[in-house]
Amino acid sequence: MSGDTGGAAEAAAEAEEDAPLGRGFGHGKVILIGEHAVVHGHAALAAGISTGIAVEARAGRTPGETRLRVPAWNLEASVGDGTPVGRALEAIVRRIEAPGLDFVADARIPSRAGLGSSAAMSVAIARAAAAAVGRADATDAIDAAVMAAEEVFHGSPSGIDAAAAKSGVTGRFTRATGWQPVPVLQKITICVGLSGRPRDTAAQVAAVGRLRDRLPAAGEVLALLGRLADDGGAALAKGDVDGLGRIMDAAHGLLAALRLSSPELETLVHAARAAGAVGAKLTGAGGGGAVIALAPGHARDVLARWRAAGYEGFLADIVAAPAGGPAAAIGGAPR
Ligand code: MEV
Repeated sequence: MSGDTGGAAEAAAEAEEDAPLGRGFGHGKVILIGEHAVVHGHAALAAGISTGIAVEARAGRTPGETRLRVPAWNLEASVGDGTPVGRALEAIVRRIEAPGLDFVADARIPSRAGLGSSAAMSVAIARAAAAAVGRADATDAIDAAVMAAEEVFHGSPSGIDAAAAKSGVTGRFTRATGWQPVPVLQKITICVGLSGRPRDTAAQVAAVGRLRDRLPAAGEVLALLGRLADDGGAALAKGDVDGLGRIMDAAHGLLAALRLSSPELETLVHAARAAGAVGAKLTGAGGGGAVIALAPGHARDVLARWRAAGYEGFLADIVAAPAGGPAAAIGGAPR
């Protein structure tokens, strides 16, 4: 055997040894209408985006140690380190029964921006862990693992982020009915603007809960947001982009009434409208995070205006999904 062949065989053996035992992917998401309302039992309309987080699981180098590395976020955590990420990791691998793995995540969405990064990460890790131990179809265990991790990050989440991260399509969600894909008549491009200020979902959800206890009208605002989510679904089904924009504007006003906006989010919303958007609103928990805008024919103008004001943004497409047809898919990556 020549030295070259021996070297190639050795390299192949090394590559095989380094091959992941399992892979998993979780989608990022935007909530179109109904954030916070969904926590209180009302409907929300959300879309998984094609960009998200991919995770590879390999056998751990140190026996029994479970580690996670996310180079894009400069983040490392391990089970037992006492951090929220370490505790979420523990919650996942305990439910999947997959200890002693090394996870590396390729994160293509920003963290803590209201784009469902924690749910996307949990889904990707749970799927990679399950694949690594030959349980890729253990959907109940994967679902339980993702919810347990989401509870570590967000207290008592509605489950909409996890559902969107798993599905990657446009859907209607309530706590009672879960996730149902919705029809979308025509492709719609959404502008996503990043405030640069991290949001804290658990704190924002708790604040809305306190407001609702003190101000009964806040409960009515949440119910109205749920109704707007269904109006938004009807607009998507008809391809009524202007109508959806008006609904998004109304939803933003109601979310601001619940004290969920911020100076940065207001700047982004008003800049989008000035650049030609037919509707714009905060998305996700609020207080920071991201806004979304609908600006047919002016999407690039919105991104340019945001950039001029010092904010980054990107485009994501909700593609058409006929009623009763294959589920909607969404495209788009940070640009
Ligand atoms: C966070 O993306 C959405 C909220 O409605 C919280 C939840 O539903 O768990 C604010």
